[in-house]
Amino acid sequence: MLMTPDLDVPRISERREQILETRGAIATAVTALQPTALRSFWRVDMPIPDVSETTTSDPDLRPTSTSSVVEGEMTTTVRLVRLLVTALIVAAVVAGIVRGLTTSASGKAAVVDGLYLTETMLAAVLILLGSLVEGFGFGLSLGTRWPYTRNILVLLIEGDPEAAHRIVATLVGTIAVVLVILAPASATISGLVLIVLTAVLGIGTLHVLAGRLPSVVHGVHGLLAYGVFLCFLSTLYVPGVDFWSYLNSTYALHALLLTVFLGGMTTGHRGFGKPIEAFYCPRRSSQLVMIVHLFSALAVVGTLGALMPKYPVAFYAAVAQMAVGFLLFHAVNLKPKDPGILVAFHQGIVLTITLAIVAAGH
Ligand code: HEM
Repeated sequence: MLMTPDLDVPRISERREQILETRGAIATAVTALQPTALRSFWRVDMPIPDVSETTTSDPDLRPTSTSSVVEGEMTTTVRLVRLLVTALIVAAVVAGIVRGLTTSASGKAAVVDGLYLTETMLAAVLILLGSLVEGFGFGLSLGTRWPYTRNILVLLIEGDPEAAHRIVATLVGTIAVVLVILAPASATISGLVLIVLTAVLGIGTLHVLAGRLPSVVHGVHGLLAYGVFLCFLSTLYVPGVDFWSYLNSTYALHALLLTVFLGGMTTGHRGFGKPIEAFYCPRRSSQLVMIVHLFSALAVVGTLGALMPKYPVAFYAAVAQMAVGFLLFHAVNLKPKDPGILVAFHQGIVLTITLAIVAAGH
């Protein structure tokens, strides 16, 4: 617990009460605006026993005391994964520097070339970090405070993946701003806008996990994150082509992005720490979302299969993903709070499919 002895306790207590009142009013307003049928479909349908919401009037000076905090467990696997992620971040920076130094362009153009590669790799790392956060139960380790908490750097050093997720997101945002300044064009501006939107919905995902916002917010957040990755990836493989026209004309990406959106909804709809539960016929809304996600996954395999032999790597990766998806479904039911590395594996395959489609099409 982090104590701050120099703070004025009665004033803090008063401020906390004001914040809680405002939050209560917002939550009531949002709930009142939703029709009952929609509420039961979009919202997670059970209480959240594991999410602690501090509502007493006793002074509590923890930095996250007014938000829902649930900490994940720092296991050996998490430590190993932390090392891997650190290596990937270093690789992203080194690869960018090497590209900048070896490209045929010079001066500002060379810097931009290098930054495109670093930014693309960091956008992928960010997606992986997001899945680690979720897979190892760190989704609410900073509570619903966003974007930073006072102890975020301490948590980063301790290896909290959620703290790393937010710091890398800051890095990705900063590089995007630099790129817009150095090379103002459709790709860099679209990239920055997508990053801002993803970040804004980032706070939404925390409230989805805490059961206060609809799962569609989680789905859109995932979709936007892939938008960022694709946008900068397109600067490497189809430079000079308008990103939105490229996206529009690359049919193989459409079913994939729909499935990404529905995958995010699957995660968001089950909520933090709750299983989907095995079923033959969907009885709960979370099971219905799971089924829709499964059908969209089949559409990915079908689309890539129909386009064969154009995207062989993407097709076989999508077929493998079907098996991984079912394993993940069981992992989520066995350990709903921390389904583990399979979540990252599932995302890793989605990143592979995306990369394989873009690389094959150029
Ligand atoms: C090409 C096919 C697929 C793609 C692109 C895909 C994509 C995704 C994505 C992006 C997520 C969100 C992960 C996150 O929030 O971190 C997700 C979640 C999920 N997917 Fe898939 N998926 C595919 C196939 C499948 C299949 C076949 C199944 C199993 C029937 C499956 C089961 C799940 C489950 C259970 C989750 C929720 C994980 C959780 O709550 O932690 N997926 N998927």
